[in-house]
This record gives sequence, structure tokens and C-alpha cells, in this order.
Amino acid sequence: MADLIVKNLTKRYGGIAAIEDINFTASSGEFLTLLGPSGCGKSTTLAAIAGLDRPSEGRIIAGSTPYFDGSDGTYLPPEARNCGLVFQSYALWPHMTVHQNLEFPLKLRKIPKAERSRRIEEALNLVELDKLSERYPSQLSGGQQQRVALARAIVYQPRILLLDEPLSNLDAQIRDRARQWLKELHIRLGLTTLYVTHDQTEALSLSDRIAVMDKGRLVQLGTPHEIYNKPATSFIAEFIGTSNFLNGQFIRSGDTNIEIRLRDGQSLLIKQPDENKKVGTGDLMAFFRPECVVSVTNSGTTDENVNVLRGKIIDTAYFGDRYQISVCVDDSVVRLYSAAPPHYEYAHFHVPPSALQLVS
Ligand SMILES: Nc1ncnc2c1ncn2[C@@H]1O[C@H](COP(=O)(O)OP(=O)(O)OP(=O)(O)O)[C@@H](O)[C@H]1O
Ligand SMILES: [Mg+2]
Repeated sequence: MADLIVKNLTKRYGGIAAIEDINFTASSGEFLTLLGPSGCGKSTTLAAIAGLDRPSEGRIIAGSTPYFDGSDGTYLPPEARNCGLVFQSYALWPHMTVHQNLEFPLKLRKIPKAERSRRIEEALNLVELDKLSERYPSQLSGGQQQRVALARAIVYQPRILLLDEPLSNLDAQIRDRARQWLKELHIRLGLTTLYVTHDQTEALSLSDRIAVMDKGRLVQLGTPHEIYNKPATSFIAEFIGTSNFLNGQFIRSGDTNIEIRLRDGQSLLIKQPDENKKVGTGDLMAFFRPECVVSVTNSGTTDENVNVLRGKIIDTAYFGDRYQISVCVDDSVVRLYSAAPPHYEYAHFHVPPSALQLVS
């Protein structure tokens, strides 16, 4: 069931659109992530849903409640929208204890005292901070403050949770734990959650679906698997994970594969795209992930006789669990992984046609 519908959402500042024609639907209990580079319009979209900012056009509907409709002037104020919000800077009130921080939004909503206490206890239990309720924010670690901010967002039982880069202030280790914890909390509460991040690991590991944004537009919406494995454009491919691109000239289109030729004469077979995706002729761009490369050797003798490419190694970086080798192929630099450091000048590697796809 659709819990949140965003239609043709546009916000302009002066003549410039911060977001333009954004469309998506989140189903009940879904964890949907808005992912994209700085300035692409993630916070603007979230603020429009929370009611903190008035969009220029479009519609926002939660369940059967219209939050905003640009065509008839509907605009529900933020306090009537029942959205739990956590911002990047999770600004707790420093002069209030944890308990008081959670109590404040309940007082605003005129919840009776006994009910307030019950809900605060419940929320603090959920975030495992029930023993620290009398502490002030300055007496808590960053991760604990983060959890208080989340508890404050869920304490008044919102129908939608809006989280804008809630883990960005945490260091790598705490962030990893916080991510795990957030996922468990989402499963337990089943709240429809809209999550904003520019961190691909967070997006891939937490989300049911990801909406990738670029320059105010939603450019792809899909499951983490779809976004990672079938990026619609080179921008999306590059933004998520490590990506390799090779440019070539269209040669022929067969039943299963398309053949392109690189400028240096090497040829490459690419699996025919599924569905009715149209393949152009002329200059084409092929994309593959380093982990799809089957073998990296120092000679051309692999068991394969197609898609064995050759290139000069220009850099080797040690990543702890593997080596990343940068190889110059034609006019591109591709990155490959290897368990052992390469003690040779030229690498030969095999990319199966099924691991290659054309991108625009
Ligand atoms: N009040 C404003 N006046 C003019 N332009 C604004 C205003 N607020 C935001 N913008 C512009 O709108 C665009 C989208 O901003 P937004 O804050 O939504 O980006 P974001 O994706 O959240 O980025 P970040 O990852 O850096 O937080 C940016 O180009 C920004 O400069
Ligand atoms: Mg932002």
C-alpha cells in the first residue's frame, strides 16, 4: 500500500530549480533512500515532505492525507504532518536531560504526563538508553546522542520517519554499528522511512529501494541490487561503487552479444541488454565492475578466447584485503582487484560479456 506519494514535486529559488519534477511512492513500512551528491536536492525534498519548506509545485500525500497540493493551495503545517525528523546535526537541547529532550515534543502535543512517561520509557528502551535518561547531551558519546535524536523523533509515534544524514557526524566504527542498529530498529518499528545520504554503503545496506538524484532530478529508482548492477547512466554507475568504462565503436549486433571495437583495436563483446532497451550505433560506452573480472594474469593465456583485454599497469594500491591495480586500456584507466601484488608490467584480464553493459 502506498504510504507516501510524491508527485511532480518542484521547488524553485528565484528562477532556479533546487528540485524539479520529483516523482516517487513509498509503500507502508518501506525504507527508501534518497542518494546523490551534495546539492542535488535531497534535503529540499525531505524538507518539503516535513512541511519545513513550501514547494513551488506538485503534490505530497501521506496515506489518505494531502500534505501539499500546489494546484489548490493545500498546505498542511509541519506539526500536523506527524513526521519524525532527524537532521544531520542532531541538535539536542543542551540544557535538557535525555528525558527532557524526549518530553519536549510530547508536551508540545499536549500529551498527558502519565502517557508522556510511558512513551519516553518505551522510546529509550528501543534505543537502549533507558539507563542514561538523566544525563545531559554533553555527558553522552556521539553515537549515544545520535540515538537520543532518533528516540526524540520516534517518541511521538510519527507515521513517517524522515532522516537527513543522521549518521554523518559519527566516526567510521560507530557509524557501522549505528547503521546496523538503525536497520534493526526499522525492522522492529516498521515505520515508513525516508533516508537521505550521500554515502553509498549506507544506501546499499539499509534500503529497500534507492532513489538516485542528480542536479535536482530523480535519475533512477530501484532496489540496491538494481541500482548497483544495472545503473541507468554512467553518472549513477560512477556514484555507486567502483566503475570501469571503455569507449568503443559499434561493430555488429548478434543474437546474444553486441561487439564494439576500442580505438587501440581490441574488441569487446557485450551482452545484449534485456527488455527493449535501444542500442545505438556509433560511439558506445561499456561499463563493468572490478569484481566481475574473472582473471588477471601477466600473459594472454587464459582459458577464454573472447574479452581478454590487455593494458599497462600504472598503479597498484594495497587495500588490506586485496590489491587494486589501475590498468591503462586504450584511452581509459580501469581498476581491477587482485589477491596478490602484480609483479609485471602488462596485465591481461577477462571480463565475461554478461558482466558488461552499455551505459549512456
Ligand atoms: N534557501 C535557498 N536559496 C537558494 N538556493 C537554495 C536554498 N536552499 C537550497 N538551495 C539550493 O538548492 C540545491 C539543493 O540543495 P539541498 O540542500 O537540497 O541539497 P542536498 O542534496 O541536501 O545537498 P547536501 O548533500 O550537501 O546536503 C542546492 O543547489 C542549493 O544551493
Ligand atoms: Mg542536505
